[in-house]
Amino acid sequence: VSGMISIVSHLKDVFQQAIVAAFPELNNAPCVVTESPKADYQCSSSMAICQLLKEKQIKTSPMEVAKKIIEKIPYSSLIDKTEISGPGFINIFLSKDYVKQAIHSILNDGVKPPQTEKKRIVIDFSSPNVAKEMHVGHLRSTIIGDSIARLLEFMGHDVLRINHVGDWGTQFGMLIAHLEDRFPDFVNVSPPIADLQSFYKESKKRFDEDEEFKKRAYDRVVKLQSGESNSTKAWQLICDVSRREFQKIYDSLDIKIVERGESFYQSRMEKLVKELETKGLLEADDGRFIMWGDKNDDFGGIPLTIIKTGGGFTYDTSDMATIKQRIEEEKADWLIYITDAGQATHFKAIFSCAKRAGILDSSKIRVDHVGFGVVLGEDGKKFKTRSGDTVKLAELLDEGLKRSIAKLMEKERDKILNEEEMKEAQKNVAYGCIKYADLSKNCKNEYVFSFDKMLEDKGNTAVYLLYANTRICSIARNLGEEFLKSLPKLKKETSIELEHVKELKLAKVLIQFPDIIDRILRDLTINTLCEYLYQIATTFTEFYDVCYCIEKNKQGEIVKINTSRILLCEAATAVMSECFKILGLKTLQKI
Ligand code: ARG
Repeated sequence: VSGMISIVSHLKDVFQQAIVAAFPELNNAPCVVTESPKADYQCSSSMAICQLLKEKQIKTSPMEVAKKIIEKIPYSSLIDKTEISGPGFINIFLSKDYVKQAIHSILNDGVKPPQTEKKRIVIDFSSPNVAKEMHVGHLRSTIIGDSIARLLEFMGHDVLRINHVGDWGTQFGMLIAHLEDRFPDFVNVSPPIADLQSFYKESKKRFDEDEEFKKRAYDRVVKLQSGESNSTKAWQLICDVSRREFQKIYDSLDIKIVERGESFYQSRMEKLVKELETKGLLEADDGRFIMWGDKNDDFGGIPLTIIKTGGGFTYDTSDMATIKQRIEEEKADWLIYITDAGQATHFKAIFSCAKRAGILDSSKIRVDHVGFGVVLGEDGKKFKTRSGDTVKLAELLDEGLKRSIAKLMEKERDKILNEEEMKEAQKNVAYGCIKYADLSKNCKNEYVFSFDKMLEDKGNTAVYLLYANTRICSIARNLGEEFLKSLPKLKKETSIELEHVKELKLAKVLIQFPDIIDRILRDLTINTLCEYLYQIATTFTEFYDVCYCIEKNKQGEIVKINTSRILLCEAATAVMSECFKILGLKTLQKI
């Protein structure tokens, strides 16, 4: 078995066949199948088909259409029965045997992605700027980007994670000039810059106040861009300091990413500009050169600035180069950029201009810009420290660690966990909460950062879900070594009983996993996975409250083990664990 069956797409196939057979006179009749709270799934195409028939002067009703579709449904092992409801909806009930077999496959083959064609994907995320602090906006990009990348890797795609670090541009002129003054011997002795942000502030102050300094700064930009060795060395040193700071954050959060900053594109920008010139796509505009996008796009009529007055390149130029490089050199067939929603117009314009320039063929290559909302503090204002500074990420993560250990102590976990386990739990809870709080909301919206909320142990939070998962996991573990050893055999040989409604309900939720994944891939909304995880946890509680897995007598001795139910618990934690992996959360071994 390679890949789990996505139930919705299977049912769509089945109903599409039925519709074609029932109404051969209609080509391209719509087929809509969705999940339904009334049945398991529902086909709601009858009304639209009825309308199409009317246009062909064929009189009928949605009810008649539904009946005809049902007559033509080919055999499918997934479907137990269908029923017409309302004016012509077709309710679909899954066959219990199919559900049992799907659970059996989760237990024995593991939780697998739905089948797909392998793609080469470049995902651009995190992307902080050198010498400026990595801030909460970059944290959002980092967390969301990592999770989308994990999902695509789970699908089996070939994913390149790119950190498009802001390591190029005019600010380096003043940084280099300032470095020369502060550390004249920088070529031989590495300068001990501890706080790059204040270094940046100092140089900016001089740049604004000192004409001689300003001139030298401009000169250093030119030198750097022409590859002069001392300026290049200074630039490297400054980037190294930033790089070390960024890496600490990535290590804490277990994020893998390849650095390929703006500087990488310098020579490619030069070539690209020539190409655009030759193709006659650049337009002189008051000293600068601009480019318009494809006329047919929903594109707000804002052109890109390709060459600034005076000859320099811009952020626009660099992204025209990223798209070209990723398509032509990386051979990507899917590009994803993750930034704050404020850059939506920028990327629309880039995609549109790339199409016009013949770089992007959108019938072959998928491009997505995932834009996220700003991070707010609990006061509803832009997230700042009390003194009004931007919050440093390293400090934020430290605060998370403090809060999480306090939470664990409050729950007296130190009585159960040893020192090492406590440390691990502290990290997994802290970073898990920070990630989950971000991922569980629709990323397009603004997001209120609140440690109190994210560390709550009720509702759709990381703490609740991690604990729930560990508890489910421990049901089988508590039966002892012998039982655990027999699990693989039991998984193979036990037939899963789904007699109780709550057993069946839980099983049906678990086998939706591939459908959930399919849905997320359509529009890259990771919060759907969080909602699903929460749905598993709550459905599990409903099941566990009424279905005994283990029965004990008054002395507390085990008198009966319901193996089928224990296996259902195992399937639940298998699916949950895979969701946690995709979200980048580490589970807790013990609680
Ligand atoms: N450095 C930019 C920022 O801080 C983000 C870069 C995103 N990637 C890109 N290819 N434009 O906003």
